[in-house]
Amino acid sequence: MIANTSFGPIYKYTKALMVALGYRDKMTRMHSERVLLLSEELGAACGLSRQELFALKIGAAFHDIGKIGIADRVLLKPGQLDDDEWDSMRQHCDIGQQILLSTGLAGAEEAALVIRHHHEHFDGGGYPDRLAGDGIPIAARIVAITDSYDAMAVTRAYHAARGHAEIIAIMRAESGVKHDPQLLQQFFAIIEDSPLKAAERS
Ligand SMILES: [Fe+2]
Repeated sequence: MIANTSFGPIYKYTKALMVALGYRDKMTRMHSERVLLLSEELGAACGLSRQELFALKIGAAFHDIGKIGIADRVLLKPGQLDDDEWDSMRQHCDIGQQILLSTGLAGAEEAALVIRHHHEHFDGGGYPDRLAGDGIPIAARIVAITDSYDAMAVTRAYHAARGHAEIIAIMRAESGVKHDPQLLQQFFAIIEDSPLKAAERS
């Protein structure tokens, strides 16, 4: 799926990262590819600049690349994580930022910031730096939305897949708390016609 997206010259370097992630955790690779496609759609709808779109695409594709550095007993645990395990899991933001920065490619710094901040919340309650509102890079606010939607749409170790209407209700309740209200409205408009819209479940 990722082969159809337009990374330009950076793609030939970054593809290896995606392949490596897939060998470590196939579910995360497939999730990342869907988050990339949803983020591209939302980013285009929001009128991002060329530079912001580039950081968004790389940041979306590799938002969870830092999970390569998380121990199997945490990354692949078939159940809820305890407090220590969550502390460990949260490090994927910093590890991912360092991995992307180490490519040394043009635009890597902005993309690495998207990776670092994709778990920040609009109200400042997220991690790792408790940024809030416009202080969170717009591309990271976009990935937070697309990541949340896709994560709820598929079965994970700790929850069953949810239907589209249920996911939208949950995200609407998180508007202004976890998510940027304006971007969320844009997302609700584009997801209706997206091939990645979740099935309805009863
Ligand atoms: Fe993540």
